[in-house]
Amino acid sequence: MYNGKKLALPPLLTGLERLEYRGYDSAGLVLLEDGLPAFYKAPGQLQNLREKVKNSYVCSSFGMAHTRWATHGGATEANAHPHVSQSQDLIIVHNGIVENYLVIKKKLENSGFTFYSETDTEVLVNFIELIKIDKKLDLTSAVQVALSEIVGACAMMVYSQSEKLLVAVNRGGQLFAGVNGSECFVASDKNAFAGYSKNFFEIGNNQFLLVRSGKEPKLLNFNLEVLKPEIEELDVDINQLTKGDYPNFMLKEIHEQPEIMRQGMTGRINFKTQEICFGGLDECWEQIKQASSLVIVACGTSFHAGLLAKYWLEKLVNIPVKVEYASEFQAATIKAGDIVLGISQSGTTADTIVALEAAKDQGAITLGVCNVVNSKMARLVNAGIYTRAGVENGVASTKAFTAQALALLLFALKLANDKKTISNFNLRIINQLESLPNLMEQALGSEKVIRTLARKLKQTTNCLFLGRGYSFPVALEGALKLKEISYVHAEGLPAGESKHGPLALIDEAMPVIVIATQGEFYYKTMNNISEIKHHGGRVIALVNKNDNEITGLTKEIIVVPLVDDILSPLINVIPLQLFAYYSAFSRGKDVDHPRNLAKSVTTE
Ligand code: F6R
Repeated sequence: MYNGKKLALPPLLTGLERLEYRGYDSAGLVLLEDGLPAFYKAPGQLQNLREKVKNSYVCSSFGMAHTRWATHGGATEANAHPHVSQSQDLIIVHNGIVENYLVIKKKLENSGFTFYSETDTEVLVNFIELIKIDKKLDLTSAVQVALSEIVGACAMMVYSQSEKLLVAVNRGGQLFAGVNGSECFVASDKNAFAGYSKNFFEIGNNQFLLVRSGKEPKLLNFNLEVLKPEIEELDVDINQLTKGDYPNFMLKEIHEQPEIMRQGMTGRINFKTQEICFGGLDECWEQIKQASSLVIVACGTSFHAGLLAKYWLEKLVNIPVKVEYASEFQAATIKAGDIVLGISQSGTTADTIVALEAAKDQGAITLGVCNVVNSKMARLVNAGIYTRAGVENGVASTKAFTAQALALLLFALKLANDKKTISNFNLRIINQLESLPNLMEQALGSEKVIRTLARKLKQTTNCLFLGRGYSFPVALEGALKLKEISYVHAEGLPAGESKHGPLALIDEAMPVIVIATQGEFYYKTMNNISEIKHHGGRVIALVNKNDNEITGLTKEIIVVPLVDDILSPLINVIPLQLFAYYSAFSRGKDVDHPRNLAKSVTTE
């Protein structure tokens, strides 16, 4: 939302571009000039909306915009936001789900309302209108009543043409307001208005922001009492929001990883004393040290980082670790004082937030490993670690994964050190960590080889990824990356499991990418490769330089620098990210906008 004295369209389009990670099935906006709304909507990516507005002559300095990830109703123009109420007085944009919308819709239909879209949002705006008319309320009070009757988390902005008032409200979602003199911006992510406004404040849970043209915005609590906003400075590097010299965000973010590792270690590792420190965990460190087990909850790529943490913690600290898909987490198993660790890039993934809330209700000590500073997760947990990956724009998570992995490895090393479960080990690993960014740069050096390989496999429709020990979560991550951006069916499997069924899938048309770098399971993995080869399979092996055993079994190899087994995931994932990237690229896919996905999934 923009309200000010300048043209509303440029900041609205910039904001939409920066919010595309929330969904890009369709986009729409409304511009108000002399009280009259002009609507523009287009299915598909933002570019389609840009085409539609490019000849707009509306000189509006007030407007709202939205980019959608379809939940209720397909990605059509009719379902794109903004939506209007029956009388045309109210205009809404909305994030979240109205879980009881069907019941409300029935009620509205019985009262004579007609619907033009399949969305819960159109139900919501008409529900507010019905309340407004029936109870003779103004917009703010009608929104307040509607909120107490709808089920589900939401963040919305509703504008009343008759009252010339916009009400922005947040219940369980996220909303931020930017204030720059007489200009006001509201968005679900403060980066949407970075560069336009230096200051911002959060519209907290159950808070309202009232915006009127030419007036200062007013922040209210749920009882409609005026609050003083806590203004903060918006500290974001605009370069993080642009692709720079890269064709897309994903490739840029893959290449940022060595630098992200440097940032992730700065101030946390003392390479002279081999000490690790995390200020954010101090408060709970004693309880963490006493814990005899740990539960991790996360989704997608963050879940894979959680699996890596399991291997590290079990190996280094000797405590059992359970890693749960956040959406499958059973809070009933948690007892007071248990440690539950959530991992999330965005810090807003609904499944992970709900799991952590449930754990907290059981009396657990909750920890977070999170990228977005001050996000919902960061504020929910008792203590945590920021992963310092900077803004991740690519829908396929890359640098956030390695940043999470690094933070979790340091966490395990510190715990092992403090609990004295390892000896003389830190020294070797910490010395290698110092050269990790350089080794990652070397791993990025295999880009050309991988591009050629991806081109060769352009017709492939299925692919297996195998790894054992620390390499198993990496195999899962490699498969997920390939699936999500090139739409190739891929599975990640423990290498040792291949002989227990998946071998039946093996033929020439099923390439198997095997992580076969030096380490504890090198020879066992070599046997698995041998089995696949003897059954007529095609193996592409990730090997270290000067490998002359696996190279005797397969000529299709990707060479990665040699590191200690324990650090290998941070290196080995890079060629798999590049493989997914070039597989998608050679198939002509839009890597930054994979179909059907959104980067930040704020619905359960
Ligand atoms: C995959 C990907 C997703 C996310 C998942 C969790 O590339 O990006 O699988 O990892 O949706 O998101 P966060 O980490 O934000 O909780």
